[in-house]
Amino acid sequence: MTAIKAAITGVHGYVPDYVLTNAELETMVDTNDEWITTRTGIKERRILKGENQGSSHMGAKAVEGLLKKTNTNPLDVELIICCTTTPDFVFPATANLISDMVGAKNAFSYDVQAACSGFLFSMSTAAQFIETGRYKKVIVVGADKMSSIVDYQDRTTCIIFGDGAGAVLLEPTTEQGYGLQDFVLKSDGSGVQYLVQKSGGSRRPPSIETVTNREHFIHQEGAAVFKFAVTNMADVAAEVMERNHLTADDISWLCPHQANLRIISATSQRMGIGEEKVMINIHKYGNTTDATLPLALWDYESKLKKGDNIIFAAFGGGFTWGAAYMKWAYDGKPSV
Ligand code: UT7
Repeated sequence: MTAIKAAITGVHGYVPDYVLTNAELETMVDTNDEWITTRTGIKERRILKGENQGSSHMGAKAVEGLLKKTNTNPLDVELIICCTTTPDFVFPATANLISDMVGAKNAFSYDVQAACSGFLFSMSTAAQFIETGRYKKVIVVGADKMSSIVDYQDRTTCIIFGDGAGAVLLEPTTEQGYGLQDFVLKSDGSGVQYLVQKSGGSRRPPSIETVTNREHFIHQEGAAVFKFAVTNMADVAAEVMERNHLTADDISWLCPHQANLRIISATSQRMGIGEEKVMINIHKYGNTTDATLPLALWDYESKLKKGDNIIFAAFGGGFTWGAAYMKWAYDGKPSV
């Protein structure tokens, strides 16, 4: 019997209209376009400005577009996994809110929290449900309103992050060699001090003190995270290639987490692949945390061909990191 694998059969994204440029950031903190561009590759990012709108707003827009594009009846969706680092509420799960907003009344839904590796962790989890043969339509949606936890007085972090969401539909395939073939996922909780929102959770609930100390914003020790990312994201990408006997020539695309152009370049160099095979959209959106991978797929979808070998790679707070190998299952259509 041919094994069932999970294939992505559609992708859609959503970014809010407001564009926060490097020029505008220059008016907010002591920075400049030249520094941001050379150190990160970022030119602009999107910001969700609407009142009373959280990550679910963007996640639901991405899922609605995905359902329409793939002609999927929301009532046929069986599971929605949302990866987010900026949930609307501590509870209930943002995935539950999104399910309701898109009319996926028959789906069960839950969140996955693995910071910037969330999409890889979620997609790998979703694939397990499909590989059992029991689930046929699973959506993974990455959505983050990073602007809700960015300190716009901290020049080392506010230049990096942006808001956005991206969603994929996963369905079973028995076509030999297609779909998600392999993944390597890793976690190391000793990295907590380098990238963390210190307060607002159960260890340090909100108080006047936590607000005064600006502890509800992202705390990042950039250089330490950078060093960790460069080594580990490249390591897992190389590991997944070796395990699957893939050489650089076999790889059609690298779909990397968009955190810093220099980290992306280090990873592609380690894999031995040229820049023309690397999905890059960090200049437009910055680091949208859980949304970077699906947004990159969305941007490059029209270029993807059935049979393309794609390596995904990500890392994030925790630390968490991972890589995955997927053989793309359809000829890309122009993004709408
Ligand atoms: O997905 C989430 C994971 N997070 C990341 O991937 C972030 C990983 N880290 C990075 O991308 C980089 O470390 C940063 C972009 C955050 C910083 O770049 P860097 O090359 O590591 O710079 P640095 O922190 O070593 O700072 C170099 C200099 C410092 O000045 P001095 O001490 O050399 O005088 C900083 O104060 O750059 C200064 N600096 C800035 N200057 C202008 C830091 N931020 C800025 C800024 N504009 N925005």
